[in-house]
Amino acid sequence: MKHLLKLLDLSTEEIIDILNLADQLKYEQKHGITHHHLKGMTLGMIFQKASTRTRVSFETGMYQLGGHALFLSSKELQIGRGEPVQDTARVLSRYLNGIMIRTFEQSEVENLAEYGSIPIINGLTDFCHPCQVLADLQTIREYKNKLDGLKFCYIGDGNNMANSLTVGCLKVGMSVSLACPEGYHPDPQILEFAKVYDNFKLVADPKEAAADADVLYTDVWASMGQEGEAEKRKLAFKGYQINDDVMSVAKPDAMVLHCLPAHREEEITAKVFEQHAADIFDEAENRLHAQKAVMVRLMAPEK
Ligand code: CP
Ligand code: NVA
Repeated sequence: MKHLLKLLDLSTEEIIDILNLADQLKYEQKHGITHHHLKGMTLGMIFQKASTRTRVSFETGMYQLGGHALFLSSKELQIGRGEPVQDTARVLSRYLNGIMIRTFEQSEVENLAEYGSIPIINGLTDFCHPCQVLADLQTIREYKNKLDGLKFCYIGDGNNMANSLTVGCLKVGMSVSLACPEGYHPDPQILEFAKVYDNFKLVADPKEAAADADVLYTDVWASMGQEGEAEKRKLAFKGYQINDDVMSVAKPDAMVLHCLPAHREEEITAKVFEQHAADIFDEAENRLHAQKAVMVRLMAPEK
């Protein structure tokens, strides 16, 4: 594995290897065992969109691994004034050991990887959010002690989260049911990937998708960059909510996850959110551990 651009690029074995290392790093951190695998290394973090979790977990993770992280707001980089990403990639490769980038177009991330000579990590694009899904899978395995054979249900927008969750969950042997309204389905590339799996289903009815689910997941109705569509989307997504009615058809011990930030009473009720706050904030914590595993595998593969 040279980069983490999207989960479509990873084998099942690579995903499981990252989850195993994430569990180990989590154990070590909880027990005060230092693991300076990236001593002397620097990660550049380019942000073209806002972030709480991604920024803080990468920066902290890099510190815990003995390295250093640089926050690079695109507004302050020359990239924000039109310097091509191809040139930025070649320059930053001379200073840094890795780059994490959060941006709009997936092609920008792919271009960085093509022109740069250091590992590139996708910290969210409009197409996907692979780091989040690695943390999600780590959390599901912690709670359920397995991944293979579990039933995963996603309700809401067929967005970057739906795209990455579909690929990640199918690759580790889970069945995936998505409930998305017409006009808001996942990316065609994802549907093409998923269509060979018998255990993949895309439906319109949230309760049909949630039936017997072990894990329920949702995300905001309007993602970053779609703020102007918020009102239109509120109408389109009415009913695409994790609430008591949806929970009543899932397994009694089903867990509920949300990548955050959450909009209570839109995609999830405040009640269900608080009932599952333990799951959701363990999930947020695991961003730290999963991303540390990704950085070690990419930036110090010999460790
Ligand atoms: N879930 C997630 O990526 O959160 P941030 O936008 O706060 O980084
Ligand atoms: N779909 C959301 C995810 C945020 C982590 C967005 O792109 O804004």
